[in-house]
Amino acid sequence: MKFSALLAAVTLATGAYALPANETVEKRATCSPVTLSGNPFTSRKLFANSHYGDYVKTAAAAITDSTLSSQALKVADVGSFLWLDTISALDTLDGHLKSVPCDQVIGIVVYDLPGRDCAAKASNGELAVGQLSTYKSSYIDALVKIIKANTGTAIVALVEPDSLPNLVTNADLSTCKASKTGYEDGVAYALKSLNLPNVVQYVDAGHGGWLGWNDNLKPGAEELAKVYKAAGSPKNVRGFATNVAGWNAWSKTPGEFENAPDGQWNKAQDEKRYVSLFSAALKTAGFPNYAIVDTGRNAVQGLRDEWGDWCNVNGAGFGVRPTSSTGDSQTDAFVWVKPGGESDGTSDSTANRYDSFCGKADAYKPAPEAGTWNQAYFEMLLKNAIPQF
Ligand code: GLC
Repeated sequence: MKFSALLAAVTLATGAYALPANETVEKRATCSPVTLSGNPFTSRKLFANSHYGDYVKTAAAAITDSTLSSQALKVADVGSFLWLDTISALDTLDGHLKSVPCDQVIGIVVYDLPGRDCAAKASNGELAVGQLSTYKSSYIDALVKIIKANTGTAIVALVEPDSLPNLVTNADLSTCKASKTGYEDGVAYALKSLNLPNVVQYVDAGHGGWLGWNDNLKPGAEELAKVYKAAGSPKNVRGFATNVAGWNAWSKTPGEFENAPDGQWNKAQDEKRYVSLFSAALKTAGFPNYAIVDTGRNAVQGLRDEWGDWCNVNGAGFGVRPTSSTGDSQTDAFVWVKPGGESDGTSDSTANRYDSFCGKADAYKPAPEAGTWNQAYFEMLLKNAIPQF
């Protein structure tokens, strides 16, 4: 049954589950309790959540070109991850979990560490350094409670983008120094708490242009392994996530930055090579090493002036749709993690969370605050999609 916003409000009033007025939810039958094992994407399609779907439908309706508009609508059917980027984002989670068909899997991004985004400004979060107990009780414990009330829903949790990679390569920044204990204890707590039968976890590991440098592979793998072991080596941690909200190609020879002067110091010139190199390092370090790779926005290459440019890259296009057919035994799935059309950061240089990367020559402007909708950027991703919609 399809719930309209009005009906949703009624449902909300009866206390069935919380639903925001602007989101629609397909309610499904009760599913029997799920116990996941192996690659969760082999037999389950990534769920297309209504948070993104509703944005996309509104975006499609705003497009006057009828061909483009109908192409846009198809994006609403693509599975993507649901970002739980604040404590209040949990308010709608129960409704989302109850809407996942029994044979699908929902992807969630756990993303609310204290002192979040320590090496940049655009995605600084609601919790300050030191608010670890709030993270644990109001965010992780609350999340676990909702999941435990939905044992019939298969869930993939992607844990804390950028956090551990930042501790490896940006440890000298005062902000990352201050965040270090909270990140390590927070991620360990998340991993331990989310060790549930219907959940599979992947920990974020940046991308080839980040931890893929020869000198970063071992420290990167050891950082992930250290936190995993501190969590008691939870058995549902299956591996790592790469290219989250990123731009790297899955497979490209030569890689985009392979012939740069420093290219010789990095063998992870595409995500396929990164998965291979980093999974080997993880194995040595004692961390489970299957990967998922974000292909949401990586269709077009050759757009960035520098490999580290991460904000609203201009000219980008939607990439390969979520699939477990990766052709690589170490890679469980290509997934859409970053919801294409949501901004990476504001280009308004007077804003509190303005990061200069969002003002660079290769960044699309104007761009709104991180996480908010950028219609023009969405239309660009659509036009440049490979394969096309
Ligand atoms: C950014 C934002 C976050 C949002 C996410 C997905 O990281 O900071 O709020 O949920 O992107 O668009």
